[in-house]
Amino acid sequence: KHIVLFASGSGSNAQQIMAYFQNHPQIKVVALFSNKADAYALQRAENFKIPAFSFTREEYKNGALLQQVQSFKPDLLVLAGFLWLIPLDFLQAFPNKIINIHPALLPKYGGKGMHGLHVHQAVIEAQEKESGITIHYVNEHYDQGTSIYQHTCPVNPDDTPEQLAARVLELEHTYLPKVIEELLLSSS
Ligand code: GRF
Repeated sequence: KHIVLFASGSGSNAQQIMAYFQNHPQIKVVALFSNKADAYALQRAENFKIPAFSFTREEYKNGALLQQVQSFKPDLLVLAGFLWLIPLDFLQAFPNKIINIHPALLPKYGGKGMHGLHVHQAVIEAQEKESGITIHYVNEHYDQGTSIYQHTCPVNPDDTPEQLAARVLELEHTYLPKVIEELLLSSS
């Protein structure tokens, strides 16, 4: 089974996934793509000897990137900290095969711009008792696809956004690789 990763930033989730599947008998991370030429995620992929590519918005929109991704014959596309909306041609080419990790309990605290510390700031300001992660299928709207898995963590009243972010990131690192493995081993 082939995984293609998309990351816009540091790529700590991508790192966890590449490490988790490094010697997996059935599952292989075959490529990593980033919309940021300077994303550290690209360096992390190179460290794992996994082909890594950056792309422009033009390539993203004009179908060039889609063809390149299809050439890897992916069974699953994983958005691991990827901040652009997925174009319709990708959704049509990979139906129910694109998943995203969001650092909050959707449907609340999702949508465009709700990433990074903003999410955790909003959760704390709303005095939520818990937060967590949502792994979901991707559709044409930000953070609105069918949920696959959620895992909660407590929010302490004196939490800073950074403290909550770190607690949630731990959950991402722990559960995203396992959910991916489940999805790929249960699919025919
Ligand atoms: C994570 O918080 C993830 O939930 C969100 O973007 C961040 C990615 O972090 N989608 P990293 O680039 O994987 O370290």
